[in-house]
Amino acid sequence: MRIIRAKDYSDMSRKAANILSAQVIMQPDAVLGCATGGTPVGIYRQLIEWYQRGDLDFSEVTTVNLDEYRGISRESEQSYWHFMHSNFFDHVNIAPERIHLPEGSNLNAQEVCRAYTEMIRSVGGIDLQLLGIGTDGHIGFNEPNTVFEMDTHCVDLTESTVEANKRFFARKEDVPRQAYTMGIRDIMQARRVLMVASGADKAKIVRQAFFGPVTPAVPASILQIHPDFTLIVDQEAAAEI
Ligand code: GLP
Repeated sequence: MRIIRAKDYSDMSRKAANILSAQVIMQPDAVLGCATGGTPVGIYRQLIEWYQRGDLDFSEVTTVNLDEYRGISRESEQSYWHFMHSNFFDHVNIAPERIHLPEGSNLNAQEVCRAYTEMIRSVGGIDLQLLGIGTDGHIGFNEPNTVFEMDTHCVDLTESTVEANKRFFARKEDVPRQAYTMGIRDIMQARRVLMVASGADKAKIVRQAFFGPVTPAVPASILQIHPDFTLIVDQEAAAEI
């Protein structure tokens, strides 16, 4: 585990964008694992800027997103499909057929999860997985649990996740209660993992996840044993480490 301390949000975003862009330059057909949430937005903004300057080319890149709400269509503004397109994909030259997110509008969980697991295999696994962290230690939507769920699966979101994500919806009641998420094995099999954490509300969980025991009660803690894991934290998120 490698920890990089950044000054602030924009420093964290630039450092992470540098790692992602190096991956794409060294391996133009890389499979990038993408994350949603507020934290990676600055990274995507930076990558778009470098793309517009002509420094980056995503034409051969494949993307695999971590998760999607269950029971929400691609067209919905709250879908992660929409989030990824408006914050990143629509502004760079990623080929639409190489963009992958779980099919949120399909309520048949077994079918969606099986297809997603198969898709990850068919693209040869993930070269670099970007992650944020939930205040309860979730990665993707792998919520605190008594076991590590391995493959893509359907989860019931915890109250704290619904609370944290309500800012993206008009009303708390509109936040879906379930989601499809890549499992812990899918994430751990990524060849490299890069996590970003920013802000004071992440300080406590950063300490628990990376300076505490490895436990499914704090899903992110498993990354301590990933062979190539980098955490970039800004000063506020690093306050307790
Ligand atoms: C959501 C996403 C996670 C993300 C988390 C934290 O629950 N499913 O992938 O890491 O939010 O989001 P934020 O970066 O906004 O704190």
